[in-house]
Formats: sequence, structure tokens, C-alpha cells
Amino acid sequence: MEISNSVALVTGANRGIGREFVAELLKRGAAKIYVAARDTASLKELLREGDSRLVALPLDVTDPDQVAAAAAIAADITLLVNNAGYAAFEGAIAAPNMDDARREMEVNYFGTLSLTRAFAPVLAKTGGGALLNMLSMLALVSLPMAATYSASKSASLSLTRSLRAELGAQGTQVVGVLAVQTETSMGTKLPEPRMTPQEVVTDALDAIQAGTNHEIVAGNQTRAIHEAFVADPKGLQAKMSTRLPQRT
Ligand SMILES: NC(=O)c1ccc[n+]([C@@H]2O[C@H](COP(=O)([O-])OP(=O)(O)OC[C@H]3O[C@@H](n4cnc5c(N)ncnc54)[C@H](OP(=O)(O)O)[C@@H]3O)[C@@H](O)[C@H]2O)c1
Repeated sequence: MEISNSVALVTGANRGIGREFVAELLKRGAAKIYVAARDTASLKELLREGDSRLVALPLDVTDPDQVAAAAAIAADITLLVNNAGYAAFEGAIAAPNMDDARREMEVNYFGTLSLTRAFAPVLAKTGGGALLNMLSMLALVSLPMAATYSASKSASLSLTRSLRAELGAQGTQVVGVLAVQTETSMGTKLPEPRMTPQEVVTDALDAIQAGTNHEIVAGNQTRAIHEAFVADPKGLQAKMSTRLPQRT
């Protein structure tokens, strides 16, 4: 899909990888970007430069009323970026309760499903367009110190594959982005070295631009891990399985 002159919506646009998506979409000539955030006050810095192409949108992806309102307002988008994510980085057993596990599913899986269902008719109406889902390399291998997050990203990967098939009929391109640890507040809980958000976003938007219609491996660090996964999936999983949650 051509990014120049596109109309995009980015969830979790206020910080981290989402904010980088906005910067890069602006650079690549997007005509309009709905910058969605739970608290629009957190968009203040992003909006400070006064780029008239940015439209602030209040959006908690777990709130069905806000999702419906967003789809009514942003009824002209051609690119939906499901970026918003949550990670508690806890073990499945070590976590004190299941609250964070449920929240990870609510944001990462149900949030992605909810946004995509709401915006599928919009994308159909505007010519097909594209859907970009921020996944994780942890969709393919499970990290015990982030057990329930890994599970939520595996669910989102599976969903992304089915969405691609279902949305194919209306000509919507679907890209799932696999990435390893990246320098954001979420990523700082993961071991160094970490990729920059720019590396991830550049590869993700290059894939959109190139018409790619499958999962992509973003950044050199992810490519190295992905190669290890392809060569020996069980070996990589065994290595990851040594990363157990810290017990307090
Ligand atoms: N950083 C990494 O190492 C890494 C690696 C692979 C994939 N990813 C994925 O990349 C995406 C972006 O992550 P990041 O590293 O930029 O994380 P981050 O810095 O923690 O930012 C997370 C973003 O998601 C938003 N968000 C959380 N819950 C939300 C909800 N219910 N509704 C709407 N927005 C919500 C946050 O908004 P608030 O400011 O309101 O909390 C924030 O804007 C996520 O899907 C993540 O899983 C990250």
C-alpha cells in the first residue's frame, strides 16, 4: 500500500513504538494520522509542533464504546496500526493473581480483534487498505518470565493469520510484525542489547509499502533470533526456558 497520502490510525500513539510510527508516517507523507491514546493529554508533546495532519483521538482499546466512537470519527482511514500493548513480565505461576494475564489478553488480543472488527468496514469502503499488527518474537517462542504476555502474542499471531484470510476478500493487506526487545518503557524490562523503535518501524512500514501480506521479522536483532528459531525451534525454546521469573 502506498503510504504517501494514506490516512492512518495508530493506537498507543503517545509513546514508544507507537510514537515512532507517527513520526515515520509523517515523514513518508501520510495525509492524516489519527493519534489514538487512552489519555489525550499524553499526546501534548507530539502535537506541540502543530502538524495539521495529526488528529488526537481518545481510545482505550479495551473499551467497546470508545472503539465504536473511534470508528465513527476515523471513517476515512486506509491504514490501521494496532500497536497498543501491555506486558506485565510475570511468570504464569509466580504472578500473584491472574489480573495482569487477563489485561494482557484484553489489550493485546481482544483489543486488536475489537479494533479490526470495527475498522474492517471502513477499510473496505476506502479501497481495502492495510492492517498492521504489532506482534512479538514471543509469539513464536515462549519466555517464562513473560509467560502470559507470550501467550497473548501467540493468540494475536494466530488471529492475524485468520484476519489476513478473511480480509483478503476485500483486498486488505495484513502485516504482522515480529520483534525482539526494543528500547521503550516496555522493553527496558528485557535484557540488553535492544533495538531502536526506528529499526522496528522502518521495517514494518517498508513491508506495508512493498505490499507484503504476511508476518515480517523487524530489525537485525530479531532476524538473528528468527534464524536461530528456524534452524532449531526446540533448541531456541530450551534456551528461552532458562529465563524464569524472579521469585520475590
Ligand atoms: N518494546 C519491546 O521490546 C517490544 C518488542 C516486541 C513487540 N512490542 C510490541 O510493540 C507495541 C508497542 O510497545 P512499546 O514497546 O512501545 O510499549 P510501551 O512503551 O509500553 O507503550 C505501550 C503503548 O500502548 C498503550 N496502551 C496500553 N494499554 C492500552 C489500552 N488499553 N488502550 C490503548 N492504549 C494502550 C500505552 O498507553 P499509555 O501510555 O496510556 O499506557 C502506550 O502508548 C506493543 O504491542 C508491544 O507488545 C514491543
